[in-house]
Amino acid sequence: MSLRIALTKGRLEDKTLTMLEKSGYGTENVRSKGRALVLPDTAKDIEYVLVKSNDCITYVEHGACDMGVVGKDTLMEGSSDYFEMLDLKTGECDFILAALPEADLFSQNSRVRIGTKYPNVAREYFARRNMDVEIIKIDGSVELSPLIGLVDGIVDITETGSTLKANGLVILDYVAHISARVIVNKASLKMKKQEVMQVLGDLRKAVMENAEGN
Ligand code: PRP
Repeated sequence: MSLRIALTKGRLEDKTLTMLEKSGYGTENVRSKGRALVLPDTAKDIEYVLVKSNDCITYVEHGACDMGVVGKDTLMEGSSDYFEMLDLKTGECDFILAALPEADLFSQNSRVRIGTKYPNVAREYFARRNMDVEIIKIDGSVELSPLIGLVDGIVDITETGSTLKANGLVILDYVAHISARVIVNKASLKMKKQEVMQVLGDLRKAVMENAEGN
């Protein structure tokens, strides 16, 4: 096996596999994975592992995987001991600040409370606005937290906007645009430069083809 690549499960999974397939990689084992966790490419000398987004960074940082595909949202929130090499321009969504329509976050008298899965991103956003807010970490379904009075607003990702809409929340501001990124272990970029650059080149071509098709 010349390269091991960590792919993020869930939201990005199908989109990442589509990009690899467009680039001539054999993802059949990943598509039909069952309970298997280590999945060899059927066309190239590559092994895939499917992991949660935070674990993707961990495996790449420690060199257990040479490369990884993970959302920019996870990269913005976490540590950064890797090289971010390519924007796949897929899995696109936005980091937003949202609240109930009657909330008045920017002029309320009491300290604003924000619910989020991304405390670092939220803290940085409000620091840029010189606002001292209380951040409350939520692990899932963040949209619930303002509805039942836990927080005044949320910083979260939105893709279609349907979760916000279904819960009567409105977007107050866009924090950042996000998409799937390819990250590379620092040592792998030196030690396996040719193999890594080959994968990056193949994927870059697929990104360009997608852009031309649009
Ligand atoms: C994300 C996000 C929103 C939802 C938005 O959650 O936290 O809840 O997707 O998507 P939409 O704009 O298309 O409605 P995710 O599905 O990743 O699950 P989680 O809340 O369990 O983390």
